[in-house]
Amino acid sequence: MRTATVTLHPDFRIGDIDNRLFGSFIEHLGRAVYGGIYEPGHATADANGFRNDVADMVRELDMPIVRYPGGNFVSGYNWEDGVGPKESRPKRLDLAWKTLETNEFGTNEFVDWCRKVGTEPMMAVNLGTRGIDEARELVEYCNHPSGTALSDLRVRHGYADPHAIKVWCLGNEMDGGWQMGHKTAEEYGRIAVECAKMMKWVDSSIELVACGSSSRGMRTFPEWEATVLNHTYDHVEYISLHTYYGNRDDNTPNFLAKSLNMDAFIKEVIATCDYIKARRRSKKTMMLSFDEWNVWYHSNAADRKVPDWIPAPPKLEDIYNFEDALLVGAMLITMLKHANRVKMACMAQLVNVIAPIMTATSGGAYRQTIFYPYLHASLYGRGVALNLNVQSPSYDDREFDQVPYLESVATWDQAAETVTLFAVNRDLESALELSADTRAFDGYGVEEHLTMTHDDLKARNTFDQPENVVPRKVAPPRVEGGRLSVTLPKTSWNVVRLRKS
Ligand code: AHR
Repeated sequence: MRTATVTLHPDFRIGDIDNRLFGSFIEHLGRAVYGGIYEPGHATADANGFRNDVADMVRELDMPIVRYPGGNFVSGYNWEDGVGPKESRPKRLDLAWKTLETNEFGTNEFVDWCRKVGTEPMMAVNLGTRGIDEARELVEYCNHPSGTALSDLRVRHGYADPHAIKVWCLGNEMDGGWQMGHKTAEEYGRIAVECAKMMKWVDSSIELVACGSSSRGMRTFPEWEATVLNHTYDHVEYISLHTYYGNRDDNTPNFLAKSLNMDAFIKEVIATCDYIKARRRSKKTMMLSFDEWNVWYHSNAADRKVPDWIPAPPKLEDIYNFEDALLVGAMLITMLKHANRVKMACMAQLVNVIAPIMTATSGGAYRQTIFYPYLHASLYGRGVALNLNVQSPSYDDREFDQVPYLESVATWDQAAETVTLFAVNRDLESALELSADTRAFDGYGVEEHLTMTHDDLKARNTFDQPENVVPRKVAPPRVEGGRLSVTLPKTSWNVVRLRKS
C-alpha cells in the first residue's frame, strides 16, 4: 500500500475561512426555479409555492449565500418584469437559453425563499443589455428604506423592510461572445466602475464582484482581469472566477486531476490582482469570488434536442456519478487551500440545473452524489484552513505533471475545539495509508471517519436508488503517540473529524 504523510499544526494557518465559500447559485434556467425551488400546487409546496421537500434538503447544506438570477440569463433580464402583481408580469423570450420566461418568480420571491431556507441573496445586475441606471435603481428598490419612488414601490409590493442585499455581481461572464451585450475588457471595465460607484452611492454598505474570465481557457485571460481591475480596483471587493470540468474522453486519472487546473487558475488570478495592486501602489488586497464551479458535461448532448421557447424545459440536468463527487471534493479542498484569498464561492447550481439536488416536477427529490462532499465541506469546513504539508506519492498524466494521489486540507474550529481533515484518494487501484502527525493537537481524538467510495466509478443516485452512492461511517482510527493512521480506500472522499476530549 502507498503511504502519504501530513502534519496537523495550528501554526500552519492558510487563513480564516469565510463561510460564504459554501454558497450556491440559482439561475432562471431550465427547472432550477420552476419545478425546482418553486412549484405552486406541488404536494409539499407552502403558501408561496416553495417546495418544502427541496427547502429541507437545502437547509441541510447550511448554505450561507445564493447567487441569482444568472448566469447568462441576467444579461438580458429586466428586473422590473419580475416584481409587482404576478398577473401583470410579462412573458419574455430568454435569449440566453432560448426559453420562455413567465416572470412568475422574481426578486421578491427569491428573497422570500432565501429567508425561508436561511441563506443570504447575492444579486447580479444586467450589464449586458442594460446598465448603470437599472443597476442603481435595483439597489434602491431592494435596499433603500422608503420615501423614494422605487423604495416605496417595494413597500407597495408588500415589503416594508428593505431586503438589505449585501453582495452584488456586476454582470456575468462579460468576456464571453455568447453573452448578451458581450464587451471588451476596456468597455466592461469602464461600465463596471461607473456602475459600482453609483450602486455604492445608493447604498455604501454593499460589496461588489467584478467579472473575471469565464474560464482559464479564455483567450483574453488574464489580460481581461488586469484591464478590468485597473479600472475597478478601488471600487470592488472581489473578482470572479468560473470553471466547469468534464470527463469527456473517459480518462478518470486525468479527470480527477482537474482540480490542479483550478488551483493554477486561482494562483494566476491572485498574481494578476497583486500585479494591479503593485501597479496602483494600493494597500488594498483584492479577494476572489469563485462564483461558478462544478462538473458539467453529462447533459450537453441531451440539451441540443430540447425545443426552443418553452417554459422551464429540462436543461443542463447532469446526473452525477461517483467520480464526479470525487472531483467536487478535490475542488472544495482546492478552494479551502486558498481560503486567505477565495472568500466566496458558489457551486453552480443548486437544484436540477447541474445541481446537487434533483427533483421531478410534481414528484419527489433526491440528493445527487456531489451533494455529499459539498455538505461535508459546508458543515465541517469552518474556522481556519490549515496547510498540511502533504507528502504524497504521485502519478504522471498527459496534462499535469506529478499528480499527487492524496488531495487534502484541514480546518480548525478553534472555539469548538474541532479539527477536520478532508482527503481524496485519487488512486484507482489501491488504498492509501495516511499518516498524520497530530502532536501539536494534543488531547484531540477522532470522533468520526466518514468515507464515500464505490466499486463503480460511474455509479449514480436516481429516483429509484437515491442512496446508491452515499457516505458511510467507518470505525474511527485512533490517535497513538501523536500520530494518526487512516486508511483511505481506493478512489474515496474522506472526512476525519477530531475533537478535543
Ligand atoms: O451555470 C450555467 C452557465 O454557465 C451560466 O449561466 C453561465 O454564467 C456559465 O457559462
